[in-house]
Amino acid sequence: MKTAITELFGISHPIIQGGMHYVGFAELASAVSNAGGLGIITALTQKTPELLASEIARCREMTDKPFGVNLTFLPALSAPPYSDYIAVIVGEGVNIVETAGRNPEPYMAALKSAGIKVIHKCTSVRHALKAERIGCDAVSVDGFECGGHPGEDDVPNMILLPRAADELSIPFVASGGMADARSLVAALAMGAAGMNMGTRFIATKEAPVHENVKRAIVAASELDTRLIMRALRNTERVIRNVSVDRLLEIERDKGACLQFSDIEDQVAGVYPKIMIDGDMDAGAWSCGMVVGLIHDIPSVQELIERIMGEAERLLRRLVNLLAHDEGKTAKMA
Ligand SMILES: Cc1cc2nc3c(=O)[nH]c(=O)nc-3n(C[C@H](O)[C@H](O)[C@H](O)COP(=O)(O)O)c2cc1C
Repeated sequence: MKTAITELFGISHPIIQGGMHYVGFAELASAVSNAGGLGIITALTQKTPELLASEIARCREMTDKPFGVNLTFLPALSAPPYSDYIAVIVGEGVNIVETAGRNPEPYMAALKSAGIKVIHKCTSVRHALKAERIGCDAVSVDGFECGGHPGEDDVPNMILLPRAADELSIPFVASGGMADARSLVAALAMGAAGMNMGTRFIATKEAPVHENVKRAIVAASELDTRLIMRALRNTERVIRNVSVDRLLEIERDKGACLQFSDIEDQVAGVYPKIMIDGDMDAGAWSCGMVVGLIHDIPSVQELIERIMGEAERLLRRLVNLLAHDEGKTAKMA
């Protein structure tokens, strides 16, 4: 399939694997790129820029296809050395960066002067338009359903994507709630040039996370996610577990007076315990409502082939609806 996104990134299928903390390692990124999509390494999971350089080198050994690096600008008590991470990305010859979180404007000159294509992930039309204005090549539009940080506007993709299509001139992918061929075809119908998946890619053979995480995703339904940290204006969609129930209790008690320190135990430094050790109640971890559509753990190649094969059948079926209409019109005439 050829879209503005496959053309922009030089990939075969319009499917991107979004950056994911403690999931977006070389194993997953290379598997997605080898299957014809765009795999993405998550920079900040690598504790130093030097470690990111090794991760990029490892990914290069596993694929000769294009892959990208995610740079997340989130509120942090002490900001990571973003410029050093960018120097590594440039030095290692990676030419696609997914930015996310805050406005990437302070880093755009460094990225663009190195010839890097930038896709910014955002959760509102106004942020998407800002990304376009500051020179991003594409955006990933993350609806309210998404795993991770859906922003504070709570607009789901059935509204957000057509709104983005009406306003944007640069290409965009649909992100949040995407799992299968139906998601892809719907995203294309709403004006997107492809889709970005997070949660779905965790439940794949190659995702280098503990089996308990994959099992938890397969077992959960669309009713099993919760929003946390709204009072801090840093809303995150996570899967429900013992730790999240405790966190929500604290949030209810504290109300608008909630401080980050009140819930630090449930959110700070928990990812390695969950993703590597498989301790499913260690804390809150991002997960999309799309878990309700995930029932298996295929290889990345199987998943992407299935999506593209079914998308073709689905598109043909939809076109056939038209043919049926044309037949009727011909008979009436
Ligand atoms: C476990 C997990 C960790 C994530 N970590 C990050 C991250 O570090 N940076 C980022 O930009 N997005 C992160 N995301 C968001 C994804 O890149 C993607 O935008 C989102 O998962 C899309 O929604 P979906 O889960 O419904 O597919 C994370 C998502 C998950 C599920």
